[in-house]
Amino acid sequence: MQENNTGNPFASLDLDPEVFKQLGYRAVDMIAEYYATVRNRSITAPNSSSEIEAAFQETLPEEGQDPRAILEEWTAKVLPNATHLGSPRYFGFVNGSGTMFSVLAEALAASVNMNTGGWKASPSATEIERRTISWIAQMIGYAPDCGGLFLGGGTIANFSALHTALRMKAAYNTTEEGLQPDQRQGKYTVYMSDHEGHISIIKAADMLNLGRNAVRKVPSKDDFTMDTEALERMLEEDKANGYIPFCVVAQVGSINVGIIDPLEEIARICKERGLWFHADGACGAFGAILPGIKSLYKGLEQADSITLDPHKWLYISYECGCLLVRNPEHLRRSFSTAAPYLRGTLPTQYSGLDYFDYGPQMSRGFNALKVWMTLKQYGVAGYRKLLGQNVQCARHMHNLVVASDSFEPLHTPQLFIYSFQYCPKDLKSHRGDATVDSYLDRMNQLIADEITATGQAFIMTTRIRGRVVLRISVCSHRTTLQDIEQVFAALNSIGERLDQKERPLHFNVVAGPGV
Ligand SMILES: Cc1ncc(COP(=O)(O)O)c(C=O)c1O
Repeated sequence: MQENNTGNPFASLDLDPEVFKQLGYRAVDMIAEYYATVRNRSITAPNSSSEIEAAFQETLPEEGQDPRAILEEWTAKVLPNATHLGSPRYFGFVNGSGTMFSVLAEALAASVNMNTGGWKASPSATEIERRTISWIAQMIGYAPDCGGLFLGGGTIANFSALHTALRMKAAYNTTEEGLQPDQRQGKYTVYMSDHEGHISIIKAADMLNLGRNAVRKVPSKDDFTMDTEALERMLEEDKANGYIPFCVVAQVGSINVGIIDPLEEIARICKERGLWFHADGACGAFGAILPGIKSLYKGLEQADSITLDPHKWLYISYECGCLLVRNPEHLRRSFSTAAPYLRGTLPTQYSGLDYFDYGPQMSRGFNALKVWMTLKQYGVAGYRKLLGQNVQCARHMHNLVVASDSFEPLHTPQLFIYSFQYCPKDLKSHRGDATVDSYLDRMNQLIADEITATGQAFIMTTRIRGRVVLRISVCSHRTTLQDIEQVFAALNSIGERLDQKERPLHFNVVAGPGV
């Protein structure tokens, strides 16, 4: 156990300032060395899941240990078993790369340890959060005097948006009675597109106890955007059948193909029917700063609420989600609670904002600092360049796919997410044959698994209209066109080799020679 050196017999967790400095310098050296090597690291850990589990099978420490030795475990055990999202060739999920300034912001925020639930425990942090939320709104063309806050991620932001929507749209006061008042008739329903709607909306409906079936899937068009005529028909039919539609969720950068739903049209439909318009912009809302695609975002300014994820397309370190709500009072009416111990029983001079009144959490960390600091560091102009590069990379991959005999495009990328399929030339005209299709599904999965296992790139698959396809999410400020070319070449050669090895013998007969 560490003794404090003050002669005070009370135990303390505090370190001697000189020891703290040495540990801090060592940690900074470790981090700097990491960044110097992240581009060339194997992205995935070479060890199996059971080996990784075994590395951390440790007994509860009864006695304290030397902090220097604990710090070295980072290099010895944690890093070798990490997945390196900071690599320029990490294209998994929709994961951001993490900014270096976020690291310093996290350390500084932890040092003062303000709890941003209440203003009294976090005056400067509250002001920074208010300011940063307003900047984000301004960046994407939303009302800068909107309400909003930072949250753990897009899922909890979507949950908070649906909670607010339900509170505001229910015909009675749900605050005290929830969904169980006597006067309730019918089931609440929320709408999103069938192909590209995100699972977090279903999770949110589940957590709100609306039931997963409350999420109604609206058919999408060939370009994967929501068919708004179908939406209108569904809303009419559902109402006639006794449902209570309360919210439509538009995708602003969707998970499989990165599309943006027709926002103006959805805004109109919601307005005409008194529905809440929520824009799920976890993936793509920040793209509104890009002049070349700005027109796709028309109508976003009319949303009642918008989810954004700074830990995705602002590259802020995990976690950092964000919710904007046009009318701050709607958030307050949805989340505010009162107890004598929250503000102190007597009136105080301060009459400003306590974030525990505006969101699901009471205690909260200082997420805003890393966004505030990084936004200042790059500026909107800097971000415009970085986001533009990501779009350029996705389009470059598309161009390579289109120019190749061995791949098939499924869409043209609008943002940084791109899905495509490996398909050898001689099988292209046999698409639709169940045996060929299922072989290609298996091949694409094997290709993604192999390139990821080699550690040179991290690529996952998804399903597009029933087909298993390769999918990249270029959400890294480090990815270059050369990275894209390198990964494309690797996919191509893995595909060729696997095709030679895996193609069933009888298959060439099915496919026909020389097709
Ligand atoms: C469109 C969309 N919404 C919501 C989410 C959930 O965000 P998070 O993972 O930050 O909870 C994601 C995650 O990828 C997403 O793509």
